[in-house]
Amino acid sequence: SWTMESFIDKEIARIRALVGPTGRVIGAVSGGVDSTVAAKLMHEAIGDRFHGILVDNGVMRLNECANVKKMLVDKMGINLKIADASDLFLDRLKGVTDPETKRKIIGNTFIEVFEAEAAIIDKECGGEIEYLLQGTLYPDVIESISFKGPSATIKTHHNVGGLLENMKLKLIEPLRELFKDEVRKLGSLLGLDDELVWRHPFPGPGIAIRVLGEVTREQVQIARLADNIYIEEIKKGGFYRQISQAYAALLNVKAVGVMGDKRTYEQVIALRAVETTDFMTADVMTGAEWFMTLKRISSRIINEVKGVNRVVYDISSKPPATIEWE
Ligand code: XMP
Repeated sequence: SWTMESFIDKEIARIRALVGPTGRVIGAVSGGVDSTVAAKLMHEAIGDRFHGILVDNGVMRLNECANVKKMLVDKMGINLKIADASDLFLDRLKGVTDPETKRKIIGNTFIEVFEAEAAIIDKECGGEIEYLLQGTLYPDVIESISFKGPSATIKTHHNVGGLLENMKLKLIEPLRELFKDEVRKLGSLLGLDDELVWRHPFPGPGIAIRVLGEVTREQVQIARLADNIYIEEIKKGGFYRQISQAYAALLNVKAVGVMGDKRTYEQVIALRAVETTDFMTADVMTGAEWFMTLKRISSRIINEVKGVNRVVYDISSKPPATIEWE
C-alpha cells in the first residue's frame, strides 16, 4: 500500500536514477513550503549536486533572506545561492501603480535574474546542469491541463520556459502527484520544522501587491514592519495554524489622527486574516479573543511603525473580494 515513507524512498531512487552519478539540478527556492520540501528531497537524493537559487526581489518579508538562509543552509545543509537583485526590481517598479503591471515586471525580472544565475552556476560546474526543479503540486497539474483561468497570470513568475529552451534543461517535479496536505506531511517526515511546514502562502510579487499604489523602498519597509508585528502577535496568540493566510497591507491613503496634543496626518494599515481550504473562497477570521488580539496588534503597529496612525481590519469574504488587495 501507498505510504509517505515509501513515497520518499521511491522518489529519491527515481531522482538518483534520472539525474545519474554526475548530473546536476537547479531550482528556485522561495522559503515557502513547496519549494523547500522539493529542495530538501533533492538534497537527500543528490546532495550538493542540487543548486538552489533564492532571488531577493526587494519585496520579501522582513529579514526573509536571512531567515531562509538560517533554515535551509545552516540547519538543512542545502546548497543555496542568494542573488540580491532588490535594486533592479525596485528600480523597475518605480512609478508603476497598476497591479497586473507590477506582477509582470516582477515575473519577468525574476526569470531574467534566475536565468543569469543559473548560467553562472552551470559554467562554474562545467555544464553539468541538466534539470530544472519545480515544486509543482497535483492541483497545479490539473489546473494547467483543464483551464487557463485567472491563475494563469498568478503562475506567471513560475514560467521559466526560456530556461528550458536556452539551457536545454529538462523538468523534474517530485511533488507533482501530491496535494498540499501531503506536501506538509512529507516535509515533516523529512525533518522540517513545524514553523516551516505550516507556513502561510506568500505571493510571488510579495509586498509589491500589498503596498497599494507606487512601490518604494520606504513604503515596502513600512508594510514589512507592520506585517512582522502582525505575524509575531498571531503566533504568540496561538492563532497561526487556524488562519490560512494573514498579512498587513499599506493603503495608499492618509488619515488624520492625534498624538499627545498634536494632530497627525499619516498612512493606514489594513490587516487581513482569512480561513480557507482551497484559497478559491475564503472567510474572514472572527472571534472575541481574536478581536482582542487585533486591538493589541493595532496599538503596537501605530506605536512602533513610523508613518502609520490608523489600522483597519478587512472583513470582506472572497468572493467578491480577493485575498490580496491588488
Ligand atoms: P487572491 O488574491 O486571488 O489570492 O484571492 C489567492 C491566493 O493566491 C495568492 N496570489 C498570488 N500568488 N503570485 C503568486 O504566486 C501572484 O501574483 C498572486 N496573487 C495572489 C494569494 O496570496 C492567495 O494565497
